[in-house]
Amino acid sequence: MFTKLVSKYKKSKIVNYKKPKKICSCYNISNHDIMDAINNGCRGIKDIRKTTKAGTACGKCNASLEYEVYKALKK
Ligand code: FES
Repeated sequence: MFTKLVSKYKKSKIVNYKKPKKICSCYNISNHDIMDAINNGCRGIKDIRKTTKAGTACGKCNASLEYEVYKALKK
């Protein structure tokens, strides 16, 4: 699902003017870092995890990570 969404919106840059919100406390990753990863060519959740390392330590943030990706791509 996310791969299709990311490839659909890959051409347009996602911009967020709101304050950054911490998503992954293990690696200190914010929603802005996730958007940067998408803007820099990440094509799915696995790519985002590989690039930012979010969700790869304790795994508590996986649901939040997926929700942030969904929200970012929905705009
Ligand atoms: S909070 Fe993201 S891996 Fe632990």
